[in-house]
Amino acid sequence: MIYKIAIVPGDGIGPEVTGAASDVLKAVSERFGCEFEFNEYLAGGCALDKYGVPLPQETIDGCLASDSVLLGAVGGPKWDAVPNHMRPEKALLGLRKELGLFTNLRPASIQPALADACVLRPDIAAKGFDLMIVRELTGGIYFGDRGRNEAGDAAYDTESYSVAEIERVARRAFETARKRRGHVTSVDKANVLETSRLWRESVHRLGETEYPDVRLDDMYVDNAAMQIIRDPSFFDVIVTSNMFGDILSDEASQVTGSIGLLASASLGSSSRGMYEPIHGSAPDIAGKDIANPIAAILSAAMMLRYSFNLAEEADAVEKAVADVLADGLRTADIKAPGQTDFIKGSEMKKAVLEKIGRN
Ligand code: IPM
Ligand code: MN
Repeated sequence: MIYKIAIVPGDGIGPEVTGAASDVLKAVSERFGCEFEFNEYLAGGCALDKYGVPLPQETIDGCLASDSVLLGAVGGPKWDAVPNHMRPEKALLGLRKELGLFTNLRPASIQPALADACVLRPDIAAKGFDLMIVRELTGGIYFGDRGRNEAGDAAYDTESYSVAEIERVARRAFETARKRRGHVTSVDKANVLETSRLWRESVHRLGETEYPDVRLDDMYVDNAAMQIIRDPSFFDVIVTSNMFGDILSDEASQVTGSIGLLASASLGSSSRGMYEPIHGSAPDIAGKDIANPIAAILSAAMMLRYSFNLAEEADAVEKAVADVLADGLRTADIKAPGQTDFIKGSEMKKAVLEKIGRN
C-alpha cells in the first residue's frame, strides 16, 4: 500500500518544518520499506495571496483524497487586517470541519533530556509529567452562531453541544486512557454553564456504562489551569471542550518549556487524520533556519502511529528524536540558559535523519 500524504505547509515557518518532516518520512520509507506519496496544497495566508481565499476547494479535495494530512502552521501579521471570514485561521477551522476531525490529541510531557527547560519549580518538575489533552475540535463556541447587533455596539458567540458530540470525543478519551494510565479528568465549567452540565452528565454516563475500568474525575477549568502548574503529575488524560482545550493545551505545552517539540493529531471516525505541530507560524523567524523541526517531525510520527498503524516506524522516529536530544543537540528555542552552541533547524533535521538511518 502506498500511503497518500497531503502536505499543507501553510505560512511562516510552516514550509521549513513540514519540509523537514517529509524528509524524515522519506528516510523511514527507505529504512522500513513502507511507501509514501506526497502532494502539496496551499492553505492559510499563502492561499489567500494566491487564490483570494484561505482554504481553496482544491486543498479540501486534495486532503479528502489523501490518507492523511501533515500541516505546518497558518497565519501572520501580514493578514491581520483581512476581514474575519478571510482570515488564515479560517483555513484550519475549515479543514477540521471538512475532514470531520472532531478530536484533537495534544500530548505534553517533560522530555527527560530537557528537564532543565521546564518552567516549573524544580521540585514540581522533578516529579515529571506526561499528560494528553483530548480537545473537542469541531463544535462549541468556535463553530457556534455569532454576530453583532445592528448598532454594532454589542456582540455574541454561542456555545452549544449535543450528547452525540460529547460522547464521541469522550469515547476517544477513555480509549486513550486505557492505553495509558487509565485516568480521565473531564474539564468543564459546570458551576456556571449549561453546556458544561450536559458535558459532565454525558461523560459520566458513558464512563459508567462502557468504561468502568477507567478512573474518571471532574475539574472546573479555572482549577485545571491552576493544577497544570501546581501538580501536572496528577493528570493522565484531560478531555474538554473546544475552547477550554485550546487554552489549556497552550498552557500545558508552555509548561514543558519546549513548545518547539510538541506534536498534535486531529482525528475523526476514519483513519484519516491531520497532524500538526502545536506551535504557530512564527513569522519573525521564518526563512532563517532557526525553527525547531522536531514538533513537525513528531507530528509525522503520530501520523505513522494513529493513521497508518506503523508502530515500529513511529517508535523509530520518536527514538531518533529522544537520542539527538540526549546527545545534547539544541536549537535556539530549547537551549539551556546561557548556552551558545545551539544548532540550526536544518542541522537538527540532519541529526534526526542520521539516527533513523543508524537505529
Ligand atoms: C490551535 C489554534 C487554532 C485554534 C486557531 C488558529 C484557530 O490556536 O490550533 O490551537 O484555536 O484552534
Ligand atoms: Mn490554540
